[in-house]
Amino acid sequence: MRNPTAFLKTEYDVMVKDALDWRPKELQGMSKPRARMAGKDVLLLCANNYLGLSTHPKLINAAIEATKKYGAGAGAVPGIAGTMTLHTKLYEALARFKKTEAAMTYPTGFAVNAGLIPQLVGEGDLTISDQLNHGSIIDGVRLSKTERAVYKHCDMADLARVLEEAEKREKPPRRILIITDGVFSMDGDIAPLDKIAALGAKHGAMVYVDDAHGDGVLGEGGRGAMSHFHLTHKDVHVEMGTFSKGFGVVGGHVVGSRDLINFAYNKSRTWLLSSAQSPAVLAACIAAIEVLETEPQHVQNVWKNTAYFKKAVNDLGFNTGNSQTPIIPIICGESHKARALSETLWSRGIYVLPIVFPMVSKDSARIRCQMHAQMTQQDLDFAISEIEAAGKTLGIIK
Ligand SMILES: Cc1ncc(COP(=O)(O)O)c(C=O)c1O
Repeated sequence: MRNPTAFLKTEYDVMVKDALDWRPKELQGMSKPRARMAGKDVLLLCANNYLGLSTHPKLINAAIEATKKYGAGAGAVPGIAGTMTLHTKLYEALARFKKTEAAMTYPTGFAVNAGLIPQLVGEGDLTISDQLNHGSIIDGVRLSKTERAVYKHCDMADLARVLEEAEKREKPPRRILIITDGVFSMDGDIAPLDKIAALGAKHGAMVYVDDAHGDGVLGEGGRGAMSHFHLTHKDVHVEMGTFSKGFGVVGGHVVGSRDLINFAYNKSRTWLLSSAQSPAVLAACIAAIEVLETEPQHVQNVWKNTAYFKKAVNDLGFNTGNSQTPIIPIICGESHKARALSETLWSRGIYVLPIVFPMVSKDSARIRCQMHAQMTQQDLDFAISEIEAAGKTLGIIK
């Protein structure tokens, strides 16, 4: 008789054989550069906690006090009885920080893309997406009946070509949506958002940026990719981000015009039908914004560490692609090589996971190093010398 679940093991076994399975190690304490993982003290080189805010005393205290005052959970979805005073405060703080009209939050950044994109576009529309956009964008677009086109990574001539072809059609699309990561999560390069916005304006297209890795890192005081390019929400109409990376907490957000927020409130199923964030999370997010507004040293430090580390690994001959941010990939080629580099570094006291297909193409497996504001000179020099030794042993550099 047929075994209906046999594929579960067969498919997993293939992933293990091809070194494409995930093998995360347990973090046995706080997410800090010097961390305890799987019983070992290591340098943590692959966290999204760029500024170290997840362990900032102001965030921790805010979360504790909010739990005492408001409880552990919101008790409902936000549209019914789950919108707490802390939600309103967070929306206001975020709109103030981003210097815009309105803001709202979702349970995660993934939930923003999965819930909002399919409401912005549908049948008869065209969505044009960068080739290297994050998986949550790809899934959000797939949840829509929109027609899709992919432009070559950051290639403005290719984006212009798709827009021009759409315009020449006998029946042009009802709406056009151009969608891009602000900072590409696996490569650390920055989308040419100013040029994308200009093309959008020329062709009457909506522009949507996912700034998950730009938030807290790029622009004035960590205000993100739009601030980096001095753009407003008249240029880029939908800005989404997450509190889970530079902000050090968890939760997605959307910022922009009041019209956008009213629309998103009433349409996104991942907001309407998913429970509201807990008081601890909301209070920690508010505290993270306040820290960014008052303590500029965190953003400055992460950039100082980024410049030092990137120059050193480039000088050693490693391929860091087009990285322009604290995400610094070391591209190794096929997956076994990236895995071997990761495992060698683990044996030498550094935790940095391999990133393999389908996260990146099969021939560009890598380890993705991510900088942290609190890494010391000693931490960076340790990482650089161990990466050099491992790279030479494995023949990645000479
Ligand atoms: C570019 C990008 N968008 C969206 C997300 C999802 O954000 P979250 O972790 O808040 O679900 C991530 C995180 O992995 C990301 O890198």
